[in-house]
Amino acid sequence: MWSPRVVLLFLALALGQPDELVEAAGPLKVLGLFPHPGVSHFHFFHPIMKGLAEAGHDVSVVSHFPDKHPVAHYKDFPLTGMDKLTNSVDLKFFEKRTFYSHFQEFFLLYEWGKQSCNLTLRSEALQQILRRPGRFDVIIMEQFNTDCMMGVAHKLQAPVIALSSCVMMPWHYERMGAPLIPSHIPALFMAQSQHMDFGGRLANWFSTHALNWMYKLLSVPAADAMVQYKFGHDVPSVGELVKNTSMFFVNQHYSLSGPKVTPPNVIELGGIHIQKSKPLPADLQSILDNAEEGVILISWGSMIRANSLSVAKRDGIVRAVARLKQKVIWKWENETLPNQPSNMYIMKWLPQRDILCHPNVKVFMSHGGLMGTSEAAYCGVPVVATPMYGDQFVNTAALVERGMGTILNFEDIGENTVMRALKKALDKKFHDAAKAVSHSFHHRPQQALHTAIWWVEHVAHTGGAPLLKPSAVEMSRFVYYSLDVYAVLAVVLGSIIASWVWLLRHCCGSSAAQKTKRD
Ligand SMILES: *[C@@H]1O[C@H](CO)[C@@H](O)[C@H](O)[C@H]1NC(C)=O
Ligand SMILES: *[C@@H]1O[C@H](CO)[C@@H](O)[C@H](O)[C@H]1NC(C)=O
Ligand SMILES: *[C@@H]1O[C@H](CO)[C@@H](O)[C@H](O)[C@H]1NC(C)=O
Repeated sequence: MWSPRVVLLFLALALGQPDELVEAAGPLKVLGLFPHPGVSHFHFFHPIMKGLAEAGHDVSVVSHFPDKHPVAHYKDFPLTGMDKLTNSVDLKFFEKRTFYSHFQEFFLLYEWGKQSCNLTLRSEALQQILRRPGRFDVIIMEQFNTDCMMGVAHKLQAPVIALSSCVMMPWHYERMGAPLIPSHIPALFMAQSQHMDFGGRLANWFSTHALNWMYKLLSVPAADAMVQYKFGHDVPSVGELVKNTSMFFVNQHYSLSGPKVTPPNVIELGGIHIQKSKPLPADLQSILDNAEEGVILISWGSMIRANSLSVAKRDGIVRAVARLKQKVIWKWENETLPNQPSNMYIMKWLPQRDILCHPNVKVFMSHGGLMGTSEAAYCGVPVVATPMYGDQFVNTAALVERGMGTILNFEDIGENTVMRALKKALDKKFHDAAKAVSHSFHHRPQQALHTAIWWVEHVAHTGGAPLLKPSAVEMSRFVYYSLDVYAVLAVVLGSIIASWVWLLRHCCGSSAAQKTKRD
C-alpha cells in the first residue's frame, strides 16, 4: 500500500510542490532528434535511447534508422528521403589529400547540415511530434554539423541534452562553458594527438579558430533561416539557443583520446555502444580458434566500399597477406577476390566487436573510425590505421600516442608498406600498450549506459540542471580568457615603462646638457 510512488505523492503534497515530485516518480517522456543520416553516428545514440526505454521511460525517436525490433516504450518517427551514408563512400575520393582537405570537409558537413535540417523540418515525422499533446520532459539531440534542432527544442520548451558521436567540434566548447585550448586539444580534422610540436600547435590554433568562425558565420545563419521560415521570426538565433544545452554526452574516453578539461556538464561515454558479446557463427569461431599464429582483421567500416580500392593497392594487400603466417579476415563486399591467398577469408559482413575480443586476434587493420577504434581499445588489440576523412585522423593520432597503433597512409598502401606496418603492430610493445588502455577503458566507477540514464533523469527532474550551467556560457570569449585584464595590465605596464623612459631621458638628458654647458 505504501509503495514508493504513494510515499512520494504524500511527500509532494505535504511539501506543496506536487508537480515536480510526482513527475520524478513516473516515467519520463523523452524525445530523440537525430537528423544526420550517418549510421555510424546512430550506433552511439541508439543504445542510449533504447536503454532509456528499457528503464521504463517513454521514448520517441526521430531518425533515419527505425529500430527493426524495438523494445517496449520505444517509438520511431522515421525520416525518409535522404540517402543514408552507408557503404556509400568511394575510396577514389581519398587518393589526393591536401592541406585544404579539412576545409573541403567542413563545406561537405555544412552542405549535409543544411540538407538534413531542411528535410527534418519539413518531415511528416516532425509534424507528428509537434502535434502530440503533452510536453516532453527532456530532448536528446545530436549536435554535429547544424544546430537546427535547437529551434524545435525551443518550440517544445524542454531541456536539451546534446550527443556527439565523435570528439567535440571546435564550436561545441563555448556553449558548455568549456575552455577551447588549441595547445593541447587537437581539432577534429587534424591528424594530431595531445602532444604537438610548435608547427603542429600553430596549424591547430589556426584550424580550430578558423573552423569555429566558419561555423558561426555560415552554419548558424543557414540554420536560422530555415528555423525561422518554419517557426516564425520571433525564434531566437540557434547560436543563442545552444547556450541552453543542459548537458553534452560525448563519445570519447580519456584512456584513448587523453584527458581534457571540461566542466561537469560534459560527460564522457566512450564505448557505450559496445554490447555484451554474442556467440560467433560456427565457421568464424573455428577459423579463430584454430589460428595458432593468430588472426589479423581488416575492416574499413560501414561507409567505405573496399572493392573500390585500386587494383594496385588491392594486389599489394593480397601479396603481403600471402607472405604472413597469420590468418587474415577481410570485410570485402564482393563474392570474389582475385588471387585470394589460402590464409585469407573474405566476408561481406562480420561481427567486428566479437571477433576483436577473441584472444587470437593480434592486429586490427582499420580506417580509424571511432566505433572500431573504441572496440579495439575495449578488447585491447593493436591497430594499423588508414585514416581517410573526418575524425579518423584524430582517432588514429590518439592510438599512436597511446602506443597501440601505427599509421599506414592510404596513398602508401602496397605490399612492402602493409608488411612493415603489420610487423610493427605485431610487436609485444604494441600488445602491452593495448592491454593497458583496455584496462582503463573497462574499469569505470559506473557503466557508461547507467551514467547516461542517471544524467538524463537528473536533467529531467531538475528542469535542465540549472546548477550545472557554468556562468562562462554567457561570457564573451574575450572576457572568458581574461583578455580584457591582460589588455588593462598591458596599458598600465606600458604607461609605467613609458614614464620611466621619459623621466630618465629628461633628467639625465638635461644634466648631461648642463654638464656640457658648464664645461
Ligand atoms: C528545402 O527543400 C525544399 C524542397 O525540398 C526546397 O525547395 C528548398 O529550396 C530547400 N531549402 C533550402 C534552404 O535548401
Ligand atoms: C531554455 O531551456 C529551458 C528549459 O530547460 C526553457 O524553459 C527555456 O525556455 C529555454 N530558453 C529558450 C530561449 O529556449
Ligand atoms: C565485384 O563483383 C562484380 C560482380 O559481382 C565484378 O564485376 C567486379 O569486377 C568485382 N570487383 C572486384 C574489385 O572484384
